[in-house]
Amino acid sequence: MPPKKLKNPRARHNFVGRTCSILSVGSYVPERVLDNAELERLVDTSNEWIMSRTGISERRIASKHETTSDLASRAAMCALERAKVTPEEIDLIVVATITPDMPFPSTACLVQRKIGATRAAAFDLEAACSGFIYALEIGQQFIMSRTYETVLIIGAEKLSSIINWSDRNTCVLFGDGAGAAVLRHRPHAHGLLTACMGSDGTKADLLCMPGGGSACPPTHESLAAGLHYLRMDGKETFKNAVNAMFTAANEALRRCDLDISEIKCIIPHQANRRIIDAVAERLGASQEQVFVNLHKFGNTSAASVAIALDEAVAAGRIQRGDLALLIVFGAGLTWGAAVIEW
Ligand code: ACO
Repeated sequence: MPPKKLKNPRARHNFVGRTCSILSVGSYVPERVLDNAELERLVDTSNEWIMSRTGISERRIASKHETTSDLASRAAMCALERAKVTPEEIDLIVVATITPDMPFPSTACLVQRKIGATRAAAFDLEAACSGFIYALEIGQQFIMSRTYETVLIIGAEKLSSIINWSDRNTCVLFGDGAGAAVLRHRPHAHGLLTACMGSDGTKADLLCMPGGGSACPPTHESLAAGLHYLRMDGKETFKNAVNAMFTAANEALRRCDLDISEIKCIIPHQANRRIIDAVAERLGASQEQVFVNLHKFGNTSAASVAIALDEAVAAGRIQRGDLALLIVFGAGLTWGAAVIEW
C-alpha cells in the first residue's frame, strides 16, 4: 500500500509557513527514589492502595539544593547534545512549569544562564500538566513563521517543593523531573501536524495552590493554614481529565484526518493509570499503542509527556516517520493534544 498522504491542517488559508520538527528530546530525573514503602511510613497509606488507585510505584525527588532550573538545564543539555546543536544557536527558550525557582525572574532566564544560550530570548509559561504541549505549539509558531530557526522547549518541575507531605490525598501522586525538546524546520518532514489546546477557568479551584501569589501573599497565617501547598479535588479532576483528554485527542486526529489505528505510539499525561486506561479505551486504542512510565516517576506535571516521549524514543517505540499522539491535561483547567510525524 502506498504511504498515506498526510493532511496538514495548517495548510488551510493559503499557508505559506514551513513545518516544525522535534530534532531531539532529552530528560533528567533526580537520583533520589521515593517508593511507596517509604510513603507508608510517612502517611496513612499502603503500597496496595497507591498501586491499585494510581499505578504509581515510585517517584524521584530533587535534593534541597537542586532547583527546577537545574533539572531543566540538565534535560536541555541532553536534548542539545543529541541534536548536535550548541546553546549559542538557540533563538528562544520556553520553560513550562508551575514550580519556578522563584516568581521572577523566569526559570527560562535561569536556564539560559546555566546552559550559556547567550543569544536566546527566554520566558516561562504556566499551563500546569499541559505545559509541554502549550510550549510545543508556541515554539512551532516561531519556526513556522520563520521568526526563529531554533527553539528549545522544556517542561520542568520540582513538585516536591509544593507538596504537603502530611496529605495522603496528594503526596503519593507527584514527583520531580524535566524533559526538553529542540525544535527546528526539518526539510521534507511533516513534523508537528497539529496541536490542540484548551482551557476552562471556571474549574480553576479543582486543582490549585492558593497561596504565594498576589491574591494571597505569604503571611504567618497563610503559611500556618498550608495555603502554599498544592490542593486537589481528586474525583472531579479525574472525571474532567478523562473527558478533556479524549475530546482533545479526537479533535487532533480529526484535524489530520487520521484514525487512532494509524498512530504508532500514544503518549498520555502520566497522572494516573486509570485515567490513561479510560482515555485509551474511549479512543479505541490498544494497550500496545500506549506508552506508560508513571510507575517510575508519578505525575511530574509539565515534564510528564516530555520525559515519556524521551523514554519512548529511546525504547524504539517511536521511530522516524512514525506518528505519535501526545495528550495532556492539567490545572487551569487546561488540556491539549498533538499529532507528530516523528
Ligand atoms: N492512601 C490511602 N487512602 C487514600 C489515599 C492514600 N494515599 N488518598 C486518598 N485516600 C482515601 C480517601 O481519603 C478516600 O477515603 P474516604 O472514602 O474514607 O473519604 C478514599 O481513599 C477514596 O478516595 P477517592 O477520592 O474516591 O479515590 P479515587 O479513586 O478518586 O482516587 C486519586 C484518588 C488517585 C487522587 C484520583 O482521584 C486521581 O488520580 N485524580 C486525578 C488527579 C490528576 O489527574 N491530576 C492531574 C492534574 S495534576 C496538575 O495539573 C498539577
